[in-house]
Amino acid sequence: VLYLAIMNKILLINGPNLQLLGTREPEKYGTVTLQAIEELVRLEVIKEGYEFEAFQSNHEGELLDKIGQSLTNNVAGILMNPAAYGHTSIALRDAIAGVALPTVEVHLTNIYSREAFRHTSVTAPVCVGIIAGFGVDSYLLAVKALVSHLKKEKK
Ligand code: DQA
Repeated sequence: VLYLAIMNKILLINGPNLQLLGTREPEKYGTVTLQAIEELVRLEVIKEGYEFEAFQSNHEGELLDKIGQSLTNNVAGILMNPAAYGHTSIALRDAIAGVALPTVEVHLTNIYSREAFRHTSVTAPVCVGIIAGFGVDSYLLAVKALVSHLKKEKK
């Protein structure tokens, strides 16, 4: 079908509280703003020849709506920092599984070296993989990982 032929967009999704990056617990999350992260990711994605769209929401339902629309929005793959919803949201997991688009989960911090309640990601099992613990570089490494996965998929 036509939409398969033009699925050339990488969608970056950021979950709750990530709009506060820059000033939010800088000792953990650094001082780079979300807007700056989105621009850095945009440059990497465009360099790789994909279109780019970024979306952030604090509202679980809005994240689900955005993911659900991705099949009719030319999305080839998703980069997602689910933030705290990654630890709790079965609905977010089901949305990723439902669209069945390759998704790379991103965390700025190493969730396994933090509080026990962060050690479980309910979204990670439906993702291709997860990159956590490298600060802003987690996002840039995730672009590489997703693009490499998409290229392998095409062969
Ligand atoms: C986070 C880790 C989560 O545990 C936390 O709730 C966040 C940010 C990260 O990027 O390190 O909001 O996803």
